[in-house]
Order: sequence, then structure tokens, then C-alpha cells
Amino acid sequence: MNIKDKYISFFESKGHKHIPSAPIIPENDPTSLFNTAGMQPLVPYLTGKEHPLGKRLVDYQKCVRTNDLDEVGDTTHHTFFEMLGNWSLGDYYKEESIKMSFEFLTKELNIPLERLAVTVFAGDQFIPRDEESVGIWKSLGISEERIVYLSDNFWIAGNSGPCGSDTEIFYWRSDKEIPQVFDPEDDTWVEIWNNVFMGYFKDEEGNITELPKKNVDTGMGLERIVAVLEGVNDNYESSIWRPIIKKIEEITGLSYSDDENKKAIRIIADHIRAIVMISGDNANVTPSNTDQGYILRRLIRRTIRYAKKLNINIESDWDKELALIVIDEYSKYYQELEANKDKILTVLEQEKIKFNRTLEKGLKEFEKVVNAMDGDTINKDNAFRLYDTFGFPIELTCELASEKSLKVDVDGFKEKFKEHQEKSKMGADKKFAGGLSGHGEIETKYHTATHLLNAALKVILNKDVHQKGSNITPERMRFDFSFDRKMTDEEKKATEDLVNKWINEGLEVSCLTMSKQEAIDSGAECMFIEKYPDTVTVYKIGDVSLEICGGPHVTNTKEIGTFKIKKEEASSAGVRRIKAIIE
Ligand code: SER
Repeated sequence: MNIKDKYISFFESKGHKHIPSAPIIPENDPTSLFNTAGMQPLVPYLTGKEHPLGKRLVDYQKCVRTNDLDEVGDTTHHTFFEMLGNWSLGDYYKEESIKMSFEFLTKELNIPLERLAVTVFAGDQFIPRDEESVGIWKSLGISEERIVYLSDNFWIAGNSGPCGSDTEIFYWRSDKEIPQVFDPEDDTWVEIWNNVFMGYFKDEEGNITELPKKNVDTGMGLERIVAVLEGVNDNYESSIWRPIIKKIEEITGLSYSDDENKKAIRIIADHIRAIVMISGDNANVTPSNTDQGYILRRLIRRTIRYAKKLNINIESDWDKELALIVIDEYSKYYQELEANKDKILTVLEQEKIKFNRTLEKGLKEFEKVVNAMDGDTINKDNAFRLYDTFGFPIELTCELASEKSLKVDVDGFKEKFKEHQEKSKMGADKKFAGGLSGHGEIETKYHTATHLLNAALKVILNKDVHQKGSNITPERMRFDFSFDRKMTDEEKKATEDLVNKWINEGLEVSCLTMSKQEAIDSGAECMFIEKYPDTVTVYKIGDVSLEICGGPHVTNTKEIGTFKIKKEEASSAGVRRIKAIIE
């Protein structure tokens, strides 16, 4: 039996009820993006509410920690991890909790006593020194030299909430001789389990009061305990990671044992598992530019970049193959993964298409920026352009910079980002205010002409041309699009002719309503997919154009008149602008 199953059945045998893992996003806590500990979904019960399954609970909880995302790549950090936990809600307290933990470690997992050591709370003005736990540990055979009092043995999630002193259990992770005296500063001793005696509540002002009922909250990180017990010093060498790493080795033809590849392989393995767990959760996260969606986007983009480093053919199905391994490994414990399989694969696919469009160009642009700069800091304008035009999350730019021992003006970037957001919000508000009612007949014609121009540029220039903005007045239209050079006169003429050809063909304009996913699947054009609601309207013009858009449009292209390009010029780096009229 594996440790996860052993843990659940051990605590079930001690009267605990197995509760399912809560979704990956906390339900009632807008201050955290993800659940970062097993106790988080249980806060209402730890502060007094009765749990329907009683006072003794056990589970394994899906957790995601993103504050040290950049550390991922070493031997111990994981974005997604599972936390084993058991709880007493006003039932047993220190003695039973410590005894059960000890029994599980020494009897179920057969850890020899000499490999164990513990820390306990040293006391402060609110909570006394934890002599009680020391007495219990000693009664179990832990010697005095293996017990250390520490003042930071106090646990709270964030700044306020249920909290209390804790006792932490350490394991000697080495074949070297085990020292008699425990030194918590020595990294060979690794913490494997934390038993929190949650008897207090800390409010926003920092006042600590006793809770009406005293609880126990324990947490044991699965990845660590498995690695420790399997005797490996690198978590990624444990059985948990073996199938994923094996698949990466197969896809790349590289070996994990080769030091050169380790970091990239770990990042890909870690991130692909986190991507599957986040996008496969019923909380329904999709890549976006905010909150959980942004984390998902960053994870996918970082995975793609590292895959590129290992010379994986990005266009191939490497990402799907890896995701399927993760789904296969974990769906026994999290059935939602099987049910959400298609969604997971679609998320990967769509995000890859988006990023791949600009990654190569963005990397070239990054090199250009680096070659042209004085000093060692990438300025805010360049960082913002890499984000805005090439889809580089700021963290990616920072990572690329640090590989060259350069810095990035992140504060400046953030300011610019905010300004930009405010501007586009103002733009959106204005557009909305202008909206349907403000749209006269002539603007409606221009609006449909915009779609035709967008489609024509893809034919005449190339299919990677995308709309970057547009502006319509009763006198003219302006259309910004991604393209990196001046258009020739022939290209302008050909574009104009094609738009007029479509106008003269009298193509029908129809408005369809569909789910965002269907729209994406049918290849509908749009500027910022994440900004749209789940159900969208898509305008179809004959067989030449399909765009997500709120309208309004003419019903037949004949109504438009004659289309004329007046000017084509640079708008910003990598973006051109066409001014056109209809007569
Ligand atoms: N809440 C504690 C922790 O996360 C014990 O579960 O370490």
C-alpha cells in the first residue's frame, strides 16, 4: 500500500472520517489564490462550526504554492503538492495527537526511533512554553537531546485566523552517522510533519484569544515523506515523479541523470503536473492575465520555454503526452481529472498556439534589447513591450534577464502596466457608452469593413497578422495590426481590391451565439480571448471572416459602399496602422 492510502486507513482506524480534497481554490477566502495547506478549507470548522462528518477528520488535500515558483528547478520545491492531514475538532488534543503520529511513523512506516527528533514551542507572552508536549515525546522514547524549544513553533495561515503552537517532527535524511544531539539548523534533519495545537484565534488587530474548542491540525507534505522514505536526496528521484520524468526522457532522448538537464526536466515535470491539477480542477481555471488564470498562463509558458531548451518539437504532442501521464497517475485519487480531461488538453493546446505565435519573435526581440542596452537593467518600456506585443509574462523576462546577470525595472513595468490597464478600461467604458445606441448607420458599415480588412490582410500579408486595435468615427476608420514592416503599394492595392471584391459579392453577415470554447475551436478571430464571457457572439461574413464581436454590423456586405485605404504607417513597434474610408 502506498503512503497516501496507508495514512488514510491508519487514521480511519483511529475513528477519523475521510473527507475528499477540496477544490484547489479556497471557497471563501479571496485573499489567497490557491489552497496552500490542508487546513484552509476547514477554517470554518476550526473556528467553531460543526462538521457534518464529526470531530475526527483525515484527508489528502491538493495544494498549490506560488510564492516560490522561481525556486522550482531545485530538489525540493514543487508548485503543486499534496498534504496529508488529520484533524481533531475539539476532540483529542496534544497527547493523543502526538501518540498517533508517533505510532504511524514508527509502526506503519517503520521509521527507526533514532532517526527522529522534534521541536516544540518555547513560549511567549500569550502562550506558555510547551512542557506538556515535551513530556509526551519523552514518554515515547525521544531523548532530551533530540528535543529543541523554538520560539517560531507557532503556526497561522497568513495574518489572522485559527492558530497555535506546534510541534514539528524531523527525520535524519542521510546514511552518515546520526548525531545524538539534534540541531534544527543542520539541513540533514528535515521536517516531515507538523502538529499544530490550534487553541487560539488571532484577529486582524493582532489580538489573540482562546478558541472555545481546542483543535489539532496536522500536515505532512507527501512529496517529501515519500522521497525521505525511499532514501533519495532529490525529491524528483522518488517514485512520485518517475513516470513523468521517464516520459520526458523518452520525448527528449535525454537522461535525467545528466546534471545538465536536471533543472529543465524538473521544471517541466513540476509545471505539467501543476497545470493538469489546476486546469483539471472543478474550480474551472483557464489561462488569463489575472489571478489564478495568470499563474496557469505563466506555468504553461514557462514549460514551453524549458521544453524548447531541451529541443522538444513544440508543435508535437509532447505536452499532451505528459498531461495524460499525470491524469493517469492521479485520477484514481481525483476523479475530476478524468472528467475534465478534454478541458485540460484544450487549455494546453490553445495556450500553446497563442504563445508559440510570438515566442520565437519575442526571444529575438529580447536579444535585440539586450544587445542595444547600456547598463544592466532592462527598462520598463522594453519589459512592457515584451509583455504586450510578445506575451512574455514579466517573470519570464526576469528569468531570461537573470540568466544573463541582468536586472529588470519591475516596478516601472508595474506602473506602466497599471496605466495601460486604466487606459484600456477607459477605452472599454467609452466604447460601451458609445455602444449600440450610439452607433449610426455609417459607423456600422465601418465596423463590418473592419472585419473584412482584418480578413484581407491575413490573405495578402500573412495569416499571423492580428488586430491590435481599431477606432471608428463617421468620417473614417483606423485599424492597427501586428506586422513588422511597411506595406508595399502593391500590397495596399491588393488588400483594398480584395475588400471591395467581397463587398461586391454581397456576402451575408450573420450573428451566431456560441460558447467561448466553440468560438475558439472554430478559429474565430478575437483580440483578447480572456476578456470575453463564457458565451460570445460571433459574426460570420460569408466564408471569409469569423470574429468574436459585439456588433452591430450590416446584414449584407453590399451595404458598405467602396472601401479605400488612405494611409498605412507605423503605430508602435511591430504594429502598423491603416486609415481607410468608405465612399
Ligand atoms: N497547517 C499546518 C501546516 O500547513 C499543519 O497542517 O504546516
